[in-house]
Amino acid sequence: MSDGVGAPGGRAYRARRRVGSAVGRWLPAAGGIAVLALAFAALGAAAPHEEWQWDLPPGFPRPRVPAENPMTVAKVALGRHLFYDTRLSGNGTQSCATCHQQARAFADPQPRGVGSTGEVHPRGPMSLANVAYASALTWANPNMRTLEAQALVPMFGEEPVELGLAGKEQELFRRIRAERRYGPLFAAAFPGEADPVTLVNITRAIASFERTLISGRAPYDRAEHGDHAAMSAAAQRGEQLFFSEQLECFHCHGGYNFTGTTDDVTKGFPEVEFHNTGLYNIGRGHFPADNPGLMAFTGRAEDEGRMKAPTLRNIALTAPYMHDGSIPTLEGVIDHYAAAGRTIADGPHRGVGADNPNKSEFINGFELTAAQRADLIAFLHALTDSSFITDARHANPWLDTLAARGRPRRPE
Ligand code: HEC
Ligand code: HEC
Repeated sequence: MSDGVGAPGGRAYRARRRVGSAVGRWLPAAGGIAVLALAFAALGAAAPHEEWQWDLPPGFPRPRVPAENPMTVAKVALGRHLFYDTRLSGNGTQSCATCHQQARAFADPQPRGVGSTGEVHPRGPMSLANVAYASALTWANPNMRTLEAQALVPMFGEEPVELGLAGKEQELFRRIRAERRYGPLFAAAFPGEADPVTLVNITRAIASFERTLISGRAPYDRAEHGDHAAMSAAAQRGEQLFFSEQLECFHCHGGYNFTGTTDDVTKGFPEVEFHNTGLYNIGRGHFPADNPGLMAFTGRAEDEGRMKAPTLRNIALTAPYMHDGSIPTLEGVIDHYAAAGRTIADGPHRGVGADNPNKSEFINGFELTAAQRADLIAFLHALTDSSFITDARHANPWLDTLAARGRPRRPE
């Protein structure tokens, strides 16, 4: 195995608590801080500048965080509210959590994303588990490198419309200022700013929350770190297959996050990889026109159909599969790899994926007995982290207030 499983980088990171220096100047030290803490507790917001304490799973290194957006408890709290807030869509019907649902490891059950006005995205929503470690974001964009920049796409993008906020920036700010819970949240997240309700701050807070969505406590991890009984014998046999040269899965889905497209503080440079798995072969080497993959950014014919290998963590929760949701089950995904590429017999997409001239050299096909196939599936299921999908720190923070006011639940 590679990329830091079992490496020393995983030590739990304990940060000091800092109190804003401006505050320190006008409050008598100890008593003032206590008063301040009480005040913020009453407002339900964290004290300004309190550094985020990473609670990393064993073997996980610290994510790299942009210098201009350091992690703080207050930013994460604000970002969580924004992530779940339907005020972030033009017509008030959707939030990020509509397409990135906690119960689905922050993916959704639709094959392709469906936006707030009904427009259908050419690709499927991706799991946000461990997105803090993604060195490139979305299925095939080598230039999308930060969560701060990415958040603008669902908010303001028009091809397709997702949240549908284009031209509605001022309306968004008005709605946010009108919600009384946001005042203290923004003030704590961006202390000292006269008007902290800005687009930059909104994306910084959302990105900070996304970086906390770390998943690494599946049965596989417990087995890896000493509790061998955590994984069934079948899953252990499946693990051997997954890491075998016969199946080659680990070449593209390697390391602690089961993807080659990874970055963290232990790496000298971010690793970014895109592969063509032979999912299509229309005519000679083509993919459906709405999903050219990496070629859309590089213009190179040989990059057609190359996509990011997504993390396989929580993969049992994120069906359907592949960039366009075109494989409904994990069994179907294994059929695709076993055949060295998918064959589509009829219709406009017909073609023999195994013959795609741009296909990766690691997709060579293999034969498995029914029992081995079941073992491989058992291994993939052992990557489901139930503590992640039930973690109250990642859940919708608005539900308590809505229930208290007796209002129907805000749609996610
Ligand atoms: C209408 C559904 C939808 C909504 C709403 C939505 N997303 Fe997504 N999300 C997607 C789709 C589809 C993709 C894949 C995009 C692509 O490949 O171009 C994606 C990809 C992502 C990724 C990349 C993950 C990775 O592993 O590379 C991030 C991060 C993300 N979304 C964050 C957000 C945030 C933050 C919001 C709210 C501001 C949001 N999304 C709202 C559908 C949605
Ligand atoms: C050549 C690199 C490569 C190899 C080898 C590989 N994969 Fe993948 N995997 C990918 C890429 C790229 C995708 C996304 C493809 C797409 O959407 O067109 C993917 C997608 C998947 C998905 C669906 C993920 C999702 O979120 O939809 C699963 C499951 C999967 N692979 C499992 C495996 C298994 C099991 C093996 C070994 C039998 C394997 N992969 C071998 C690169 C690879």
